[in-house]
Amino acid sequence: MAQLWGGRFTKETDDLVYRFNASVSFDKKFYKQDIRGSMAHVKMLEKQGVLTTEEKEQILTGLEGILRDVENGTLLITEEYEDIHSFVEANLISRIGDAGKKLHTGRSRNDQVALDMKLYTRDEVAEIDALLKTLLETLLNLMEKHISVYMPGFTHLQKAQPITLAHHLGAYFEMFKRDRQRMADIYKRMNYCPLGSGALAGTTYPLDREYTAELLDFDGPTLNSMDSVSDRDYLIELLSAMSTVMMHLSRFCEEIIIWNTNEYRFVEIDDAYSTGSSIMPQKKNPDIAELIRGKTGRVYGALISLLTTMKGIPLAYNKDMQEDKELTFDAIDTVKGCIALFTGMISSMQFNEDRMKDSAKNGFTNATDAADYLVNHGVPFRDAHGIVGRLVLYCIDKGIALDDMSIDEFKAISPVFEGDIYEAISMKTCVEKRETIGAPSEKAMKLAIAQNRKYLEENVSVK
Ligand code: ARG
Repeated sequence: MAQLWGGRFTKETDDLVYRFNASVSFDKKFYKQDIRGSMAHVKMLEKQGVLTTEEKEQILTGLEGILRDVENGTLLITEEYEDIHSFVEANLISRIGDAGKKLHTGRSRNDQVALDMKLYTRDEVAEIDALLKTLLETLLNLMEKHISVYMPGFTHLQKAQPITLAHHLGAYFEMFKRDRQRMADIYKRMNYCPLGSGALAGTTYPLDREYTAELLDFDGPTLNSMDSVSDRDYLIELLSAMSTVMMHLSRFCEEIIIWNTNEYRFVEIDDAYSTGSSIMPQKKNPDIAELIRGKTGRVYGALISLLTTMKGIPLAYNKDMQEDKELTFDAIDTVKGCIALFTGMISSMQFNEDRMKDSAKNGFTNATDAADYLVNHGVPFRDAHGIVGRLVLYCIDKGIALDDMSIDEFKAISPVFEGDIYEAISMKTCVEKRETIGAPSEKAMKLAIAQNRKYLEENVSVK
């Protein structure tokens, strides 16, 4: 056991208690951030005259050595330390002696861990943002390629009106674009430095918190030391935003799973992204899409866990907060993996354009347009709705599509129909007449694509 306290204790910690309490098995993940924070702290202590220049140099060299040795694998972060902070401090003291004992002057593990976690997640937010950007680029390229691929649009998973594949993909583009905006918001709001808040009430040393904030690329120091050591809002916001990313991925995966079925065959997932069955030789299963859909539960779970952990915690730091780490790390790794895999899956997937088009033709997706035709010829919409309903019933009975009816059959149900009805309800007309902003016609889609291309080219990142 290597711990940072003990003077006040007369007995050794019970072994089980020690292990239950320890966090090094998971907080070793932010050893880099812990060392970076310590370096900034030490530079500031020297600037303020709390440490001598020589002490600062010794500590910095010691910390650099620890970082180097951990990175090259010669120094292992083992379970004999309580947490990553103890690991770094103990190793520093064993390397440089007494000067190492001054590292923790004017600092508590409470503001230290708050800083480490923020530094760690701040980088992760930027990485998630970058992965989302690549996904958006992939989607936009697919949209450009499939601007005139007709397919049915659905409501209630029933064919509704014809759209294009570009339009369908474009819906997800907007979702993931909002996800990026959420990442940027979180980054901006979280980017204040808690270092220097001490255990809860600041410290009596003349710390320059603005200086450390600047060294660590924050927008400034946090303004209340009690809040600083116990704020986990930014993690909850991140878990919530990541849950939304997963919800979007999961919806898309669900559609891909449906589109990949024998019945639909709208898409074919690439062999590299499918798996087989151990017993049924014919199977090619969409496991990756299913796994992404499944992992959504894990990320939602992390959000609910942390909200629940935080709900009863009185100010300021309490050990409950140590529970923020494993679940956040797991959620971040899950989300990053899912975005990357999903991007690979959709960029290698084959879209079966003919199947999509045929499917849009069947299922009366042009019924609304038949009603609109009547309205354009003076029939009130409600009456037109009824007439087309009768047309549909007639077609279902005969097993044909609206376009297959003869003009006499049309006229038998309503004399308003003329020969131009066929043109009016063709798939092309149905899609291309929908020209309002956000609609599926080529004209509207080109505008949306151009706007979104500009958004990607502006290259705004969270930092
Ligand atoms: N391992 C702790 C955590 O993750 C670090 C802070 C410990 N502070 C304390 N007062 N015990 O929250």
